[in-house]
Amino acid sequence: MLHEGNKVIDEKRQGEALMLDTPTSKNHKKLFLESYGCAMNFSDSEIVASILSGDGFETTRDFNEADVIFINTCAIRDNAEQRVRARLQDFKKLKKQHPSLIVGVLGCMAERLKAKFLEEEKLVDIVAGPDAYRDLPNLIEKVEGGQKAVNVLLSREETYADISPVRLGSNGISAFISIMRGCDNMCSFCVVPFTRGRERSRDPESILAEARNLFDQGYREVTLLGQNVDSYLWWGGGQKKDLDPALVEDALHHRLPAGEQERFTTFADLMDRVAQIHPDLRIRFSTSNPRDMTDAVLHVMAKHDNICKYIHLPVQSGSSRILEKMNRGYTREDYVQRIEAIRRILPGCGLSTDIISGFCSETEEDHHETLRLMEWAGYDFSYMFKYSERPGTAAEKKFEDDVPEEVKGRRLQEIVDLQQKLSAVKTREAVGKTVRVLVEGPSRKSAEMLSGRNSQNTVVVFPKGNIRPGEYVDVYIERCTVATLIGVVV
Ligand code: SAH
Ligand code: F3S
Repeated sequence: MLHEGNKVIDEKRQGEALMLDTPTSKNHKKLFLESYGCAMNFSDSEIVASILSGDGFETTRDFNEADVIFINTCAIRDNAEQRVRARLQDFKKLKKQHPSLIVGVLGCMAERLKAKFLEEEKLVDIVAGPDAYRDLPNLIEKVEGGQKAVNVLLSREETYADISPVRLGSNGISAFISIMRGCDNMCSFCVVPFTRGRERSRDPESILAEARNLFDQGYREVTLLGQNVDSYLWWGGGQKKDLDPALVEDALHHRLPAGEQERFTTFADLMDRVAQIHPDLRIRFSTSNPRDMTDAVLHVMAKHDNICKYIHLPVQSGSSRILEKMNRGYTREDYVQRIEAIRRILPGCGLSTDIISGFCSETEEDHHETLRLMEWAGYDFSYMFKYSERPGTAAEKKFEDDVPEEVKGRRLQEIVDLQQKLSAVKTREAVGKTVRVLVEGPSRKSAEMLSGRNSQNTVVVFPKGNIRPGEYVDVYIERCTVATLIGVVV
């Protein structure tokens, strides 16, 4: 093995130049990528695969044959961190058998745990944060040259707009498109603003080009991703951080005189344009923030049949006192008004939420307010978590994590039990109705059945007949489980 970093780099550069004429001579190295956490992380892994494919890497599903293993990590809760650490221990054993294997951590754990992973525990060779993926080929070269390699710099501009993601583990029908990165909201419990940096929006032309390209390849559903899609804003000159904040507020809320408003692309404008690509391309999005969601977004959803009637609107708590401590920027009443607007403008729209149990100082009364709000909202489904204190967040600095573990657990269970009931009511309501489904592929339980989702994002299964993934079918719902609708194609 060559241990002089520069020499390795020079030889590779030369190799690349030569390979322009003989693409098949590329040395195909194998990359194994494992992603944890949110959809944004999965989407980022597709960007990583794309960047490294330019460097001669093919992805593999078998880590035993990998030359490089990357874990794209999540830091949102402590248990997510524990899982990743256990996985790294597995790979450390593998490295004993294959000393040339390179193991790296990417994503949200990078910044906080870089010293620990690289130096103290010697678990990994590479640590790269979410804005450093273009640097991965260099980092790999550094390791091949015998060094450890770190880049956890966060950027105010990087959106990977020009990178065409390699679709990993895809069904060929649904794909994610990142439309922005980072988050500026600073919810007091949340680590994301620290791990993923400042919010920035991606050029709408590149988003539209990616969506058109997916449609041409046979994809029929795109999910537009951002931590807070309602604060997406683009103008000819670039990012909103370069503008007067009052102007940004007016632009986001479509309050500028027509000629001036036209200079901006808001999330509503963006969806309006993506929806026009083709009536057979379904559009979904995640995540909406109750403090920023405008009626303009709801009206665009109402205008286009191909924008799915489903909104994920994380509430976190039903108590205004807790919401204030969480720095969510809305009260229970504001949230209720948002749902009323959804019900008014989009009757029958599917609704889901995120809930945290046992945030600092949460009382039994606060918890009951959450349960009552859930009942009132009648969520189709929820993502439910116990509060997990994260180092460096405002909550960690200012408040005591004082709800005992068993109380958090019991409250979470009550939330989960209630959600089961609410979901069952929702699915039962669909029995006897006919719903439009985009067919995604075989159902998980039976090869004789196909599976897809209705506009409200509920899974629908039905006998496969001659139907193919990517087609739209109308399914008459005969029966249901808590979370799934079962029927026949009409
Ligand atoms: N805006 C983001 C939220 C990311 S985090 C999005 O696009 O979904 C996803 C969810 O994890 C949050 O809505 C919250 O309910 C939960 N969460 C975040 N930090 C948490 C913490 N410290 N403890 C428990 N749950 C947390
Ligand atoms: Fe986290 Fe709040 Fe942003 S939950 S990702 S800080 S909207």
